[in-house]
Amino acid sequence: MNFDVASRYADDTLHIDANKLIQALPFIDYHDGLLHIDGVSSKTLIDTYGTPLYVYSKHALLANYTAYVESFSALNDVQICYAVKANSNLAVLSTLAKAGAGFDIVSVGELHRVIKAGGDVSRVVYSGVGKTAQDIQIALQAGVGCFNVEAISELDVINHVAKMLGKTAPISIRINPDVDAKTHPYISTGMKDNKFGITHQMALSAYEYAKSLENIKIVGIDCHIGSQLTEVQPFVDALDKVIELIEELHDHGIRLQHIDLGGGLGVRYVDENPVSVHDFAEALLPKLLVLQTKYNLGLYLEPGRNIAANAGVLLTTVDVLKPTEHRNFAIVDASMSELIRPALYESVMAIIPTKLNADDADMKVWDVVGTVCESSDFLGKNRALALQVGDVLAITGAGAYGFTMSSNYNSRPRPAEVMVDGGLHRLVRMRESMEDLWRGESV
Ligand code: LLP
Repeated sequence: MNFDVASRYADDTLHIDANKLIQALPFIDYHDGLLHIDGVSSKTLIDTYGTPLYVYSKHALLANYTAYVESFSALNDVQICYAVKANSNLAVLSTLAKAGAGFDIVSVGELHRVIKAGGDVSRVVYSGVGKTAQDIQIALQAGVGCFNVEAISELDVINHVAKMLGKTAPISIRINPDVDAKTHPYISTGMKDNKFGITHQMALSAYEYAKSLENIKIVGIDCHIGSQLTEVQPFVDALDKVIELIEELHDHGIRLQHIDLGGGLGVRYVDENPVSVHDFAEALLPKLLVLQTKYNLGLYLEPGRNIAANAGVLLTTVDVLKPTEHRNFAIVDASMSELIRPALYESVMAIIPTKLNADDADMKVWDVVGTVCESSDFLGKNRALALQVGDVLAITGAGAYGFTMSSNYNSRPRPAEVMVDGGLHRLVRMRESMEDLWRGESV
């Protein structure tokens, strides 16, 4: 495969070779110059549902999930808990639930989505830094598999609620291993300045305290160091730190059933070279196999982006072309309200045409922007594209942290979502109506 996908020029122009980009996206193809998603032509999707439109490939979701199951199959006990925050559409959750996935949640809203989608609640891990007594009660009553505890005070609340309900709560403690994930600071979570987890130094006393609480059952140990990691070394470093603790805990008579290494494995948006799931597994398996033999520990993982990002695209129509002396603006019908990643993290996502041009002579350098009243409202800057009003563009990698981070800012109804499955397409979330914009409000 040729991954020479992008050319960057001295003036910051980014030219993406759409044909090369899609080589890494097995569910996307051009047929007769027209973009197809899992066998469905983009034209059919646009004519049927309009734009802006999120489109997800069921086949890609399943392939990405299966890569985890297969890559870690040398272990006896593996639970892949898909991180719901990446893409929480019920059709996505139900697809993964049927394939056997567990789920990583951070709110009772996500818990209810999992239940609604038919997910197995006993395979849910509940992460998050600020769980209230009410959240904990709902999760315990629903029967979640494990609370990933992020503060010592949370142990007291869980114990209290569990006692009240006459239950025992299964817990893991989330360790903050103080490892640099080498990713964007906003999505780095495993360093000592981050709000997440309990420090290595406090972990032993946290476990001893948990052990002393009657309605708590220690089942695991957990860490999650960040998101969009492209290298494997930070994961190995985090695992080493957690192993040190597991040994210490063992010496203190604290027995665990699983180790949870969180999510975070990155994806290719343009021409990044993230470690593959297979190589990620190869790097971790020797140590995990030792843990299996020595302590009978199972493995939990919480991938989100790696399963959903490259299973989805956002289709958006060019409404206005506005060349100026300084910059050329292509104003499209998606914006930071529908896809905030470029505005929030300055992340560079690929923008490709849904119709290939025979001739690139009309290529110009465009800032692809929305109509929201913010200068941060851009989807891509300095993109070499041949554009005409009415063209539809596809933003790839949009299956994760796309719709879930969308908002109604500037009173924009949120877009529709469609799932494609081997040539068939199905609406899985209606485009919001004007009435949806003020639902629950009154004058
Ligand atoms: N587990 C926990 C405890 C997490 O906090 C996260 C993500 C995950 C798993 C899944 O991480 P993933 O495999 O998706 O990297 N909105 C940002 C990403 C925020 C990630 C937050 N936590 C973005 O669009 O890049």
